[in-house]
Amino acid sequence: MREELDELLNDIAGRVFKSAEEVEAFRVEFLGRKGKMKDLMSQFRDVAPEDKRELGPLINKVKGAVEERVALEQAAFNRKVETKASGVDPSRPAGGVPQGTHHPLQVVRREIVGIFKNMGFGVVEGPEIEDDWHVFSGLNFPPEHPARDMQDTFFVERNPDLLLRTHTSSVQVREMEKRKPPMRIIMPGRVFRNEAVSARAHCMFHQIEGLYIDKGVSFADLKQNLLHFAQKFFGPDTKIRLRPSYFPFTEPSAEVDVYWGLETEVDKKITKGTGWLEILGCGMVDPNVLEVNGIDSKKYSGFAFGMGIERIAMLKYQIGDLRLFFENDKRFLDQFKGER
Ligand code: DAH
Repeated sequence: MREELDELLNDIAGRVFKSAEEVEAFRVEFLGRKGKMKDLMSQFRDVAPEDKRELGPLINKVKGAVEERVALEQAAFNRKVETKASGVDPSRPAGGVPQGTHHPLQVVRREIVGIFKNMGFGVVEGPEIEDDWHVFSGLNFPPEHPARDMQDTFFVERNPDLLLRTHTSSVQVREMEKRKPPMRIIMPGRVFRNEAVSARAHCMFHQIEGLYIDKGVSFADLKQNLLHFAQKFFGPDTKIRLRPSYFPFTEPSAEVDVYWGLETEVDKKITKGTGWLEILGCGMVDPNVLEVNGIDSKKYSGFAFGMGIERIAMLKYQIGDLRLFFENDKRFLDQFKGER
């Protein structure tokens, strides 16, 4: 009987079923009223008592094997029926996983940061929710300066000393209070202003701030660093010019233009007929700012600059509407496939 049971186990494992009907026939063959299990049970009754101990579990094993195969095969054929009905074929190979794209602001931010990193600048970030000191007072803004005006700044209602930073220059103050010169850092981040949203303005945008403080840092260093940046970013023949300007935290201050050209009508329009385009603000860190932040302005000097990432991205990719950056329209974003 032992051999017979072993053969049956082999037989059960080796069966192949082509349909649910074949599975059912198999079930009846073994488990039916006149099935093989019934036979085995009656043979078992006549087995010598000393053999029962060995053969009992083997018979159970045969029965278990039949039940298991029947359950599995029935389930498989049921699934096939279902998927035929639903039109889904789960055995088909999966399609490719759709690839996302880098957001153009991220691409530009990374490129700018990379250029300054190669020049020895470290990268730091600061909080988006700030206090008056880091955004205004520590940067030499007089108490009545219009930038503090409710029209420009989002204040936290419950505590008007807290606000959403309006520029990344706040990170300069945080770093000056944290470490001693020499320091050479760039500070990318998101900023907020209470502006009506339009093609040219948004209540949220991104800036990259730069700060270099050491002994003997001069305006010539500032100009050379920015020229190098502009030529790396816009191309080796890029020309820049500096126009005198005013910022509370730098003296002297300047705005930097790149020469864009006047070839097409669009060139004329975006450069207002001059051929020049403003890309950033900069200047020598005002000695007042160094002093209130605990840096000896007789020993150290420095330069700072700040630029808008959206503005640079719009120039680089010829994008005419700022709102496109924040709408997450896939048709817009897909155009930057392959940019890193
Ligand atoms: N914080 C200025 C802004 O938001 C940009 C800026 C101008 C930053 C001159 C600077 C700077 O560091 O020196 O418009």
